[in-house]
Amino acid sequence: MMKKILLSFDYSLSLAKEISKIKKLPIFIVNKTTLPDQETIITIPTQVKNAEVILIASLNEPNQKLIDIIFTCEACKNNSAQKITLIAPYLCYMRQDRQFKRGQGISAKIIAQLLSRYIDKLITIDPHLHRIKKLSQVYTTKTVTLTAIKNIENYIRKNYKSPFIIGPDGESYQWAKTIADNIGAKAIILNKVRYSGTKVKIYTTKELEQIPKTQKIIIIDDIISSGVTLLYIGKFFRNKGYNNLAAIVVHGIFADNCYPKLKKYYKEIITTNTIVHKTNKISVADIIAEKL
Ligand code: R5P
Repeated sequence: MMKKILLSFDYSLSLAKEISKIKKLPIFIVNKTTLPDQETIITIPTQVKNAEVILIASLNEPNQKLIDIIFTCEACKNNSAQKITLIAPYLCYMRQDRQFKRGQGISAKIIAQLLSRYIDKLITIDPHLHRIKKLSQVYTTKTVTLTAIKNIENYIRKNYKSPFIIGPDGESYQWAKTIADNIGAKAIILNKVRYSGTKVKIYTTKELEQIPKTQKIIIIDDIISSGVTLLYIGKFFRNKGYNNLAAIVVHGIFADNCYPKLKKYYKEIITTNTIVHKTNKISVADIIAEKL
């Protein structure tokens, strides 16, 4: 059997440690130096000859990380690694899945083509699949798409009694409705129009106001990015006199440090550990380890 080597960047170390514990594989940390002119030097810290290198790097704040990954893959290949598996629990650029304005490219496709050149296999969790329905439409390398639905479901079962589930938009349906059905909870999926990266309108319905005021309401979504989606819903419920709101999300990006703003409206904000953040309460290490 091919030897497996677990490589991680320092920014993905906490998840890497969990995976290493489950798989009983040591972790090696990629050595990264930034030169005064901001160029990057990557040195792999161990022999990788004939091995499968399993590289862990979540792709939030992605631009520098993409360089880190490409350089690491190239270094591994130069040192005769046989196979490179990239674990990117959060996969970047997937929301840029069409040309939104004249003069643009399709970033999801560009990144897919780029990564496919360097890696033999990609493992990711709940990528944002909207206009692109399957990663294989844009990735030419092998891809494994996992979902944190069961992990979130188990967390809700353990921590909440009869919550009411809300999905903020059609894209959240696959998480919110599936989880609600599996735990036997009532759910409403709303409609959202996005005008820009930081401007949305969510069409609230009369049905929402029939939810009892003390009811535990959980908003479920795949991503918190700028936070405007959760903010919109949080403000709506606050104005209607609800105070028992939680949000559970797979990927917590929390761009521009939006967490404190959101926290004013939510009793709990919970994320999985695909992206390191203080809200991480649900681990995805088990579902990743199962695929290695
Ligand atoms: C959207 O289509 C997704 O399901 C999320 O609702 C969205 O990505 C959240 O982004 P933001 O936090 O910027 O509103």
